Amino acid sequence: MPPGGAERPSSFRQLVRRLDRLARSGMCMPFAIDVDGRFAGQVTVNNIVRGSAQFASVGYWLDRAYAGRGVMPLAVAMVIDHCFTTARLHRIEIAIRPENTNSLRVVEKLGMAEYGYAPRFLHIDDAWRDHRLYAVTVEEVSGRMVDRLKESH
Ligand SMILES: CC(C)(COP(=O)(O)OP(=O)(O)OC[C@H]1O[C@@H](n2cnc3c(N)ncnc32)[C@H](O)[C@@H]1OP(=O)(O)O)[C@@H](O)C(=O)NCCC(=O)NCCS
Repeated sequence: MPPGGAERPSSFRQLVRRLDRLARSGMCMPFAIDVDGRFAGQVTVNNIVRGSAQFASVGYWLDRAYAGRGVMPLAVAMVIDHCFTTARLHRIEIAIRPENTNSLRVVEKLGMAEYGYAPRFLHIDDAWRDHRLYAVTVEEVSGRMVDRLKESH
């Protein structure tokens, strides 16, 4: 457990309960990724801050069986579009470990700007891990993220 942090959920059911509670309080928006009727992964909008901030951070994972097909860039683009329209957020951030080259391709494809480097940012696999920080604000996207993604190919 990270020092001073919340305990990790011990099961998927417990994770869903936690996400449900946070979603009801307006602090997070959890999404499931469905590929051909199968549950393939998740995109979660975390740490939603309202007031003068209107920002949030996005995290994701994908079953390796579905990797390399462009599923995650599309899923994240759809979620960011939802954040900027229905949820009326202003800024979305994504933090990625420097060694996670596949995940770095996702933000590259989305055209998100790198704005910083956070040493020892998140406690993962029993250690504090550095992360590269990316962000996009609503003003930077003239149409939808989904269209921007299509144009980048
Ligand atoms: C990182 C990850 C979520 C990206 O999602 P994705 O839907 O695979 O994204 P893309 O299809 O755009 O692939 C991104 C890059 O991953 C690489 N890749 C990963 N698995 C691959 C596979 N099986 N076949 C081909 N390329 C693969 C490619 O280099 C690709 O870049 P490219 O399109 O320029 O060739 C996913 O690849 C993955 O590794 N999932 C398992 C672990 C995980 O969930 N990590 C999340 C940590 S933040």
